[in-house]
Amino acid sequence: MRKITLALTAILAAGCVFNTTYEEETSVTDDSYMRVEGRKNFGSSHALMTTPQPCVVIATWDREHHPNVMVAAWAGQLGATEVIISLSQHKTTENLEASKAFTLSFVDRNTLVQSDYFGLVSGKLVADKIARVGFTVTSSPNVNAPIINEYPLTLECKVRSFKDGILIGEVVNMSAEERILTGGKVDLDKLQPVVFDASANVYRAVGEAVGHAWQEGKVYLDNQ
Ligand SMILES: Cc1cc2nc3c(=O)[nH]c(=O)nc-3n(C[C@H](O)[C@H](O)[C@H](O)COP(=O)(O)O)c2cc1C
Repeated sequence: MRKITLALTAILAAGCVFNTTYEEETSVTDDSYMRVEGRKNFGSSHALMTTPQPCVVIATWDREHHPNVMVAAWAGQLGATEVIISLSQHKTTENLEASKAFTLSFVDRNTLVQSDYFGLVSGKLVADKIARVGFTVTSSPNVNAPIINEYPLTLECKVRSFKDGILIGEVVNMSAEERILTGGKVDLDKLQPVVFDASANVYRAVGEAVGHAWQEGKVYLDNQ
């Protein structure tokens, strides 16, 4: 629970950057903290919290069953079957209130440009964002939301809760194209997901694997 509270606090704090520029955020003078000696101290007003952040797109139906999509980087995983996303007011949030469902797909190198466009323009102004970039949708068989066909990895989610800008979704299915699988598992070398670097305001490629989880640290276990 402590981990979740910390994650939420970080995401909520990070969520405030959407209505201001990075420069505005970092220019705030904040003297309410004790400086750590020997380091540059940024205080609490900066864009970096848990960067690099995952880069996903959220697709929803509106009330007339038109598809819409936005990009999100203030997102994470809660436990084994839930996702959490910090959201400002968007066409997407209006849709979520009505549809109670969404799909979440991973931005990869092939979809980076289109995904950035989805984060620049609101569906309130451009009703056909998805079609405009040449992307197409299929109805999810599991939840009341569209799947964008051009993203190879998609989670289908029901809205578990949406309160104070924090969306929690229950993942009911994950589907992946065969071409990003190795041995039946999602292979990030094939998927080539991108992450969001809030320090430089750029997208970065995910690099090579550099160690095995729950393995490398064993050199410090007593019985080694
Ligand atoms: C890299 C990037 C990350 C973003 N992350 C988020 C986010 O996590 N939460 C959010 O509310 N908006 C985020 N946005 C902004 C929305 O994607 C943007 O306002 C979008 O136009 C909303 O679309 P809609 O009104 O059609 O739903 C992000 C934008 C970019 C470019």
